[in-house]
Amino acid sequence: MAMEKLMHAVRYHGYDGGPSALKHEQVPIPTPNKDEVLIKVEASSINPFDWKVQKGMLWPILPPKLPYIPGVDVAGEVVEVGSGVIKFKPGDKVVAAVNILNGGALAEFAVIKESVTASRPPEMPASECAGLSVAGLTAYQALQSAGIKLDGSSERKNILVTAASGGVGHYAVQLAKLGNTHVTATCGARNLKLVKSLGADEVIDYKTPDGAALKSTSGKKYDAVIHCAMGIPWSTFEPNLSSNGKVIDVTPSASALMTFAIKKLTFSKKQLVPLFLNPRGENLQCLVDLVKNGKLKTVIDSKYPLNKVEEAWARSVDGHATGKIIVEL
Ligand SMILES: NC(=O)c1ccc[n+]([C@@H]2O[C@H](COP(=O)([O-])OP(=O)(O)OC[C@H]3O[C@@H](n4cnc5c(N)ncnc54)[C@H](OP(=O)(O)O)[C@@H]3O)[C@@H](O)[C@H]2O)c1
Repeated sequence: MAMEKLMHAVRYHGYDGGPSALKHEQVPIPTPNKDEVLIKVEASSINPFDWKVQKGMLWPILPPKLPYIPGVDVAGEVVEVGSGVIKFKPGDKVVAAVNILNGGALAEFAVIKESVTASRPPEMPASECAGLSVAGLTAYQALQSAGIKLDGSSERKNILVTAASGGVGHYAVQLAKLGNTHVTATCGARNLKLVKSLGADEVIDYKTPDGAALKSTSGKKYDAVIHCAMGIPWSTFEPNLSSNGKVIDVTPSASALMTFAIKKLTFSKKQLVPLFLNPRGENLQCLVDLVKNGKLKTVIDSKYPLNKVEEAWARSVDGHATGKIIVEL
């Protein structure tokens, strides 16, 4: 019998346990199905999703089987393709999103469907695009949901981005500016300059009274809020929205889902729209192309090698990343 080839992977064997429950193990290299590519991972990044799943906070989303290799974001090189794959061949540099039901980005190799894989130029560093698959795509789809076209062809809107210094928020500010909008953004005092440099027109410190009330300095009402922070109630958004204003909520809580239902049922013009990422290769390709053309950049909070992934995980749990936490292989 042929010996199975092994790889270094990070796995956890039970729920909760935090960073110290991450184990470094040798596991078989996965085999791509017909519609999948096998990617040698060059970089990944940690998302709050990763540790929220480990904690069981996103129930009913749970790893279907344990042990589980966490991680969704992948930037790497294709080493093998399934028989039905047409767009990619071994040697291609790519960016891709792992199917969360299978898991698998925090390992030397990952199998990913062709349909959620995008090409990147060989000269684009993996660390510059490893944050796009979850945080970038979430920002992209939130702006789509707000009716903002990235070619700037949509009517000019006033946008608020909350937690604009975070992974999703820092991409959302840049994409919103491509979409011909006036952007107000919230972040902590230490990141005001950075968020301004990403293109925001007004930046407010979320720890000041006006920041906590989400009030634009120039008195603007928001046509859309890309809401990436947590725990802000509808009553705080409501007075700041224009008559048809929408809150696109990327962190919907149970009470946010209730608000969504009530606003829908009462035909309210002001709406709350929960957003759940739906990874798509063509959206990811748009983001990679924007990076290639110098129109979108990744702010890197920190970089860790795979053997220090526990530190990267703890940094994300802490909730104070500025931009993306990158894991390099
Ligand atoms: N629905 C989906 O499909 C989906 C997809 C992706 C992400 N998400 C969720 O979206 C949220 C954001 O994700 P992320 O990757 O951007 O997180 P992140 O990078 O960990 O966000 C951290 C940043 O948020 C800032 N922040 C925290 N609370 C804030 C507040 N009240 N006002 C302004 N800034 C605040 C922090 O600033 P300080 O350090 O100054 O406090 C920090 O810079 C997470 O809850 C994540 O689970 C959902």
